[in-house]
Amino acid sequence: MSLLSNNTVWHRASVTRDRRHQLNQHTSVILWFTGLSGAGKSTLAHAVEERLHLSGCRTFVLDGDNVRHGLCGDLGFSEQDRRENIRRIAEVAKLMLEAGVITLTAFISPFNAERQQARELVSTDDFVEIYCKCDIAVCEQRDVKGLYKKARSGEIAQFTGISSPYEPPLNPELVIDTDMFSLDECVEQVLALLKQRGVVAECGGVKNEH
Ligand code: ADX
Repeated sequence: MSLLSNNTVWHRASVTRDRRHQLNQHTSVILWFTGLSGAGKSTLAHAVEERLHLSGCRTFVLDGDNVRHGLCGDLGFSEQDRRENIRRIAEVAKLMLEAGVITLTAFISPFNAERQQARELVSTDDFVEIYCKCDIAVCEQRDVKGLYKKARSGEIAQFTGISSPYEPPLNPELVIDTDMFSLDECVEQVLALLKQRGVVAECGGVKNEH
C-alpha cells in the first residue's frame, strides 16, 4: 500500500510495550486463527480468551463477523475486499500487540499472501498462526449460519470453499483438527503452545496456580 500521509512524524511513546508487559505481568502476542467458515475459529478464539482472562491476562478477540459491522463494514467478499479486510485487521492487531494485549484474530483470511503480510508486520515471536483445519463437508453439515446452503443455491456468491478459494497455511505454528477434537481439547492445544512459548507461564493467574 502506498502511503498518502506525507509530512507525518512518528511519536515515540514513553509508555513502551515492555513497560506494559511489566504492568500486565505477561507478554503480548497475536494468535492468528485461520480456516473455513464454520471451522470453529471464533468459538475456539473466544474459548481460549476465556481461559486466559480467568488467568489474569489482558486479551481481545478481533472477530470477522463483528469487525465487518464496523471497521470493515464497507468491504464485501471480492478478492480485493478480503485482502483489504485482512490488511486492516493486521494493522489493528499490531496496535493491540503494542498495547500489551494478547490479541486473537478469527478471520477466514483465505490467502497466504495477506497472512504472510500480517506476519511480517511484527516480529517473528509475536505472530502465531493457528490453522483450524476442518473438512468442508463437516463445515457444510454444521452450517451454523445457514450460509453454505445459500452458497450452494447461488444466493451467496464468492463463498469461501465453494465459489471462492481458501489457501491452507504453508507453515503454521499450530494445526488444530477441529473436526476431530472437542472444544476443550482444542483449547488445551492452544494453551500448551502458549506455555511452550513462555506467553502464559508469565500470566498472573496462571503463575499463581502453581
Ligand atoms: S475474510 O475472507 O475476509 O477473512 P471474514 O472472516 O472477515 O472473511 O468474514 C467471514 C464471515 O462472513 C463468515 O464467517 C460468514 O459468516 C460471513 N460471510 C458472508 N458472506 C461470505 C462469503 N461470501 N464468504 C465467506 N464468508 C462469508
